[in-house]
Amino acid sequence: MNTHYLKKIFLHYFQATFIDLLHSPFIFKLYQTCIKKQKCNEAFAEIEKLRQDLINDYTQIQFTEIGAGSNFVVKKKLSIASITKHHAKPKRIAEILHYIAKNNQCSYSIELGTSLGISTAYLALAHKERSLLSDILLTSIEGNKSVIEKAQSNLIKLQLDGYVNLVEGNFDSVLEDVIKYYPQLDLAFIDGNHKKDATLNYFKKMLPLAHNNSVFIFDDIYWSKGMTEAWEEIKSHPKVTVTVDLFFIGLVFFRKEQVKQDFKLRVK
Ligand SMILES: C[S@@+](CC[C@H](N)C(=O)[O-])C[C@H]1O[C@@H](n2cnc3c(N)ncnc32)[C@H](O)[C@@H]1O
Repeated sequence: MNTHYLKKIFLHYFQATFIDLLHSPFIFKLYQTCIKKQKCNEAFAEIEKLRQDLINDYTQIQFTEIGAGSNFVVKKKLSIASITKHHAKPKRIAEILHYIAKNNQCSYSIELGTSLGISTAYLALAHKERSLLSDILLTSIEGNKSVIEKAQSNLIKLQLDGYVNLVEGNFDSVLEDVIKYYPQLDLAFIDGNHKKDATLNYFKKMLPLAHNNSVFIFDDIYWSKGMTEAWEEIKSHPKVTVTVDLFFIGLVFFRKEQVKQDFKLRVK
């Protein structure tokens, strides 16, 4: 763990607002319905059982570092177990993603960084649970061929493959083509290539599709100084009104009726 990250996590726990002191009805509702621990959803158990199976799977697959993990293209073999332990969002964060997608009535969503499909499954489940209500489109992009193939088989096991399109390719080359098919973007989850310029570039590419009720979610905003600078720049963008810093992820809203305000909350 780097010193920047440690310093920021320490500060976060001092600076984060206690929910009882929140005066914004929008943030209070968001906290109550998405961030606070909710009653158990039976379907989460299936995903978590799959996560456990992956953690016990020592099969080696080809893995190429294409994001911020490396400045060079490094090809190596990694076990499914190691990829799961190091890349998949923890249950608590994945649950928050699920409830945001579900309660925000997200129909058009994008995830950058599928990995083995754990967070994708939580998002796909939210789309499944409201699929009768509207058209849905969830796309998840991943640059590692063998990893996305395994994600596809994981989603089939969970019977969630019908609710998500997996696209293999580098975000830098495929994101533009993917969003051409989106009339709007209700939710974007950026969970790969944690570099300042790349993060800002993805934000700017997707921004024209954001509307009043969209939410963009950035992972690992304190992973490095560069990521924190990207987060600060996103927070100060004129189209962004409300942000919620949960330390592990940052939520960005564009609601015109809100005064510009940045919140820091604790995930318990
Ligand atoms: C942290 S993992 C995603 C974890 C996943 N969202 C989950 O919680 O289960 C990030 C993934 O993004 C992929 N990635 C990083 N940079 C990329 C790029 N520029 N284009 C495509 N994929 C990329 C990596 O291969 C890795 O699998």
